[in-house]
Amino acid sequence: MAILVTGGLGYIGSHTVVELLNNGFEVVIVDDLSNSERFILDNIKEISGKSPVFYPFDLKRRALLNQVLDAHSIEGCINFAAFKAVGESQEKPVDYYENNLFTLINLLQEFKERNISNFIFSSSCTVYGQADEMPIDENTPMKRPESSYGKTKQMGEEMLMDFANAHQKRVSLLRYFNPIGAHSSAKLGELPIGVPNNLVPYVTQTGAGIREKLSIWGADYPTPDGTAIRDYIYVVDLAKAHVAALKKLLSEKNEMVIDIYNLGTGKGSSVLEVVHAFEKANNVKVPYQICGRRAGDITIAYANADKAERELNWKANTSLEEALRTTWEWQKYLESRKVH
Ligand code: NAD
Ligand code: WQD
Repeated sequence: MAILVTGGLGYIGSHTVVELLNNGFEVVIVDDLSNSERFILDNIKEISGKSPVFYPFDLKRRALLNQVLDAHSIEGCINFAAFKAVGESQEKPVDYYENNLFTLINLLQEFKERNISNFIFSSSCTVYGQADEMPIDENTPMKRPESSYGKTKQMGEEMLMDFANAHQKRVSLLRYFNPIGAHSSAKLGELPIGVPNNLVPYVTQTGAGIREKLSIWGADYPTPDGTAIRDYIYVVDLAKAHVAALKKLLSEKNEMVIDIYNLGTGKGSSVLEVVHAFEKANNVKVPYQICGRRAGDITIAYANADKAERELNWKANTSLEEALRTTWEWQKYLESRKVH
């Protein structure tokens, strides 16, 4: 029996594949390399000492997916494959609906007809928007996300709940807060696409001299230092949560299960705290300037992740500084490979 990991060569997917292999699971990866590169597969093999099966194709091609499912005995799926850039989703909304929803629909169409019951979905804290109270637990009311990307996550969640109910399936909706960091081997991490929009990749590239200066989007928020607060979770901690969520689904007696978990550290850090933690962890200066607020940004978001701790026996315990140290090692690795 194997686990199908879609988007398994991506940032979070690649770390999760390593954790699955370390836990004795067989893994079948489908990834069209639209946001990854083949060397990630080589590095997964090097780190784990195991060889996952890999199929390079676009999941919108249902006939190919059908062939993969015929060829392997699949007991569950972790679906990472999606486009994820919030800003880009505003410029190309239809591309985001097409990629993020058609891939999901194809998987669910195939699974409903087969005896494949366990499905884990990469959701996001973006489904909460600006919550009225902190920390955010799973019962916090969801707001309509501003971005088309966020809407695909909310729609995906709804589709999966209907799927579980109608077809007696087990699903786990994992709402990630802000994933950061890289594998301790420095062989896996987030691949930079153009100018980064997310904070930690931008801070890292500024530290490396690729960018001149970090722009801090707003220092007039109602927070202790005026900069916005997020919950930054180390990617390997996040990857481990997937294994825990999968094991829970696989051990369920009930045919129909809908699990929902917030995956964060429970601790909020401001933009300036991230900059200073990065400087301290790596002994590198990050020049910055204070600018106006970025459109669509919220003031504060951090998780109450107690439910995941209680039910999955999982907790994110890597410190911000340690996570930022791995990011820097990964940056040096990319430079050694001349990937910028
Ligand atoms: P990523 O872009 O690094 O990984 C996604 C992978 O899916 C890539 O390797 C890409 O090549 C592949 N892919 C995309 N469309 C595909 C398709 N049609 N067919 C086959 N493969 C396809 O992104 P990530 O950061 O690892 O995110 C993984 C998941 O987690 C996504 O669903 C994302 O929306 C979600 N998520 C990410 C974050 C974050 O900040 N990184 C936060 C919350 C949720
Ligand atoms: C963090 C903070 C910025 C860059 C996004 C998605 C969310 C989820 C995680 C997928 C904010 C500030 C940033 C910069 C800055 N992804 N910042 N200068 O916006 O919390 O969340 O990624 O599901 O859906 O929206 O993350 O890393 O972009 O920003 O000052 O150059 O850093 O304003 O306060 P965000 P981020």
